[in-house]
Amino acid sequence: MLSYDSAIPNGQDKAARVPLPPAGARSMSSSASVAAPVNGQAQGQRQHHLWLVTGPAGCGKTTVAEYLANALDIPYIEGDLYHPPANIDKMSAGIPLTDSDRWDWLTELRKQSNSRINNGADGVVVACSALKLKYRDVIRVAAYYDRTILVHFIFLHASQELLLQRVAQRKGHYMGANMVKSQFDILERPREDEIDVITIDASQGADEVKDDALAKVNAVLAADP
Ligand SMILES: Nc1ncnc2c1ncn2[C@@H]1O[C@H](COP(=O)(O)OP(=O)(O)OP(=O)(O)O)[C@@H](O)[C@H]1O
Ligand SMILES: [Mg+2]
Repeated sequence: MLSYDSAIPNGQDKAARVPLPPAGARSMSSSASVAAPVNGQAQGQRQHHLWLVTGPAGCGKTTVAEYLANALDIPYIEGDLYHPPANIDKMSAGIPLTDSDRWDWLTELRKQSNSRINNGADGVVVACSALKLKYRDVIRVAAYYDRTILVHFIFLHASQELLLQRVAQRKGHYMGANMVKSQFDILERPREDEIDVITIDASQGADEVKDDALAKVNAVLAADP
């Protein structure tokens, strides 16, 4: 089973495969008064949680991310809104994005998240497919720039058949049903050692998925406020 199920509290230390800079290294944060780090985290500073709601097209990212942001009273970033126009044109035409198409988009989402926290937000919720390990690793770098940040992924897991049905019923969205297949083709489900991942069964009804996600988020917050 993926996720925090087997994780110790404060499991971010283990999850961060991205090497952290040495103590005293410069931070991107404007309020870079980070104390000497303990296992990569700032000592004596308030932590900020960055929640990425992830999964293929139609799994419920927007639905769940909006709900969590409201419930936690923290800002919400809709990843789709930060795609450059060229990416949207491609997706509208049913052409899958390449890794290089996604690179600037992911770094922009990371920058936007760090910036919300630098500007005073307690945490941030981001809806972003984050389909591959290397995409998730791009986001994990947020903790490199600001050691008060703990990154978590909420992976909404459902079958391709179910998501095809959901997307086919949805109107007025550029993400067509054929994007579901191409996203499943490249999907790298979170690995056992990605212990900053919470997996949710997204084949449940929307209310159950939201409740499940919030309960798991609250459990993480209780262990690591
Ligand atoms: N658990 C659920 N059960 C049934 N329908 C759902 C559920 N979650 C979301 N939906 C519906 O499925 C559709 C897709 O949901 P949503 O837009 O939240 O997914 P998404 O992952 O953000 O999709 P995209 O990747 O295209 O942005 C919407 O019409 C939404 O109302
Ligand atoms: Mg969405």
